[in-house]
Amino acid sequence: MSEKTLRHIGIVMDGNGRWAKSRGLPRLMGHREGIKAVERTIRAAKDLGVPYLSLYAFSTENWKRPKLEVSGLMAMFKFYTNAKIEEINRENARMRFAGDLDALPSDVREVLRAAEERTNGNTGLELIICLNYGGRQEILGAIDKMLAGGVRPPVTEQDLRNYLYLPDVPDPDLLIRTSGEQRMSNFWLWQGSYSEYYFTDKFWPEFGKEDLEQAISVYYGRERRYGKA
Ligand code: IPE
Ligand code: IPE
Ligand code: MG
Repeated sequence: MSEKTLRHIGIVMDGNGRWAKSRGLPRLMGHREGIKAVERTIRAAKDLGVPYLSLYAFSTENWKRPKLEVSGLMAMFKFYTNAKIEEINRENARMRFAGDLDALPSDVREVLRAAEERTNGNTGLELIICLNYGGRQEILGAIDKMLAGGVRPPVTEQDLRNYLYLPDVPDPDLLIRTSGEQRMSNFWLWQGSYSEYYFTDKFWPEFGKEDLEQAISVYYGRERRYGKA
């Protein structure tokens, strides 16, 4: 029998730049349009009763982009978190971040931390924004902290997990990527080892509730064997 639970959906929100380019717009306009897809997807996840939704917003490799794009994205993270946090809070959703926030500009970091604190006690949807997130960096950071914490070999899976960004969040059951690229680009490396993958050619700004439903329905049609016969 296949495993039929669906607790955590992770999404690589890709294709904002190409969406903009195909319309002759600057890349940042694609990111701005992408925010609307974020709002649609959060609402859909809530309606569909998905307990955990993680959104890959900025990777540890995305610093390689033009300065203007990076600073524009940082400004958007700050602006939209500020603008939306009360609504998120009213809906009993909890907003958390996975990634190295210490490397972000301090004004951005403060807004994100405040959003986490504001929604800390909420019991509805857990919205996880992966920001300055990299799976390899997460694992390396966990190893550093384990060594500093005096964990002795042999290290167990649970030892390592305890030092990842959000150890209490269940592993993603379903990982979605938009824009036609079929790779994970350093997303949930440890946690995604048995996730089901779903790819769509749509650019992220075009993603909506019916796409999420489609991905979920494909997921339920799959058989997860975890190595068993
Ligand atoms: C959004 O899509 C992902 C972010 C890093 C914010 P992209 O900006 O990667 O869009 P494409 O891949 O260039 O089309
Ligand atoms: C992955 O998308 C990171 C995010 C969506 C935040 P990228 O566009 O950065 O990935 P690559 O460069 O195509 O692998
Ligand atoms: Mg991309």
